[in-house]
Amino acid sequence: MALLEVNQVSKHFGGLVANQEVSFALEQHEMLGLIGPNGAGKTTLFNCIAGFYPVTSGRIIFDGRDITALRDYQTARLGLARTFQIFQASGDLKVLENVMVGSFLRTGSRRKARQTAEGCLDFLGIRAAAGAMMADLPVAAQKRVALATALASDPKLMLLDEVGAGLNKSEIEGLVALLRRIHSERGIALLLTEHVLEMVMALSHRVIVLESGRKIAEGEPAAVVKDPEVIRAYLGDHYIRRRQETKDA
Ligand SMILES: Nc1ncnc2c1ncn2[C@@H]1O[C@H](COP(=O)(O)OP(=O)(O)O)[C@@H](O)[C@H]1O
Ligand SMILES: [Mg+2]
Repeated sequence: MALLEVNQVSKHFGGLVANQEVSFALEQHEMLGLIGPNGAGKTTLFNCIAGFYPVTSGRIIFDGRDITALRDYQTARLGLARTFQIFQASGDLKVLENVMVGSFLRTGSRRKARQTAEGCLDFLGIRAAAGAMMADLPVAAQKRVALATALASDPKLMLLDEVGAGLNKSEIEGLVALLRRIHSERGIALLLTEHVLEMVMALSHRVIVLESGRKIAEGEPAAVVKDPEVIRAYLGDHYIRRRQETKDA
């Protein structure tokens, strides 16, 4: 049984069709990439899956349950955690308090919530920042706190919306290594959108490509980047050229 099944999901904003009959499945423990140009509907699809937006039509099954009509706090309880493209952590909370917001999904005990949160900060290598104010952290550390908060809610699946945005090359490499550990050591499935294509390609078992709200391709990363339709719609020769340069280097 797939962990997540998205069946013919459409999302309209008035006359604008942000997602059009999108279908795909994400297998247990899979790392699935969702790519496509700006405005393709990636964030909207995440919002529909997580229950931030009601879908216009279609059905979403998570872990064997129909979650189509559920709200965000309900899908979170079932094990679906998401991070935001624009991290909305509260700047006036300390790091540890922020991560505890995630733990409180599973426990009412302050002591247990704190233990879980500290464990997650340890796991992500930012325990030393526990007492810092969110607003004082550099972007890369804030991203780790976002991941720690998601992790603290003990999810089966994490939806990661452009977690690599705003990071430099070595920070991206660190993030890729972290996501691999979240996947392999915690057994968490990942659905990720990313502008940093190299990052999706390095992590994903399979990739789905959206364009103007529709799914135009799906497959293994190596095959998808060779798909003429994908090259036309999205990659252009920019990506191909960069790949070639990397190979030649
Ligand atoms: N809350 C909203 N209200 C109206 N239009 C929206 C809303 N959210 C997204 N859109 C529109 O839906 C389309 C898809 O946007 P989005 O899902 O953010 O794309 P992506 O994440 O792939 O860049 C865009 O045309 C965007 O302007
Ligand atoms: Mg987006």
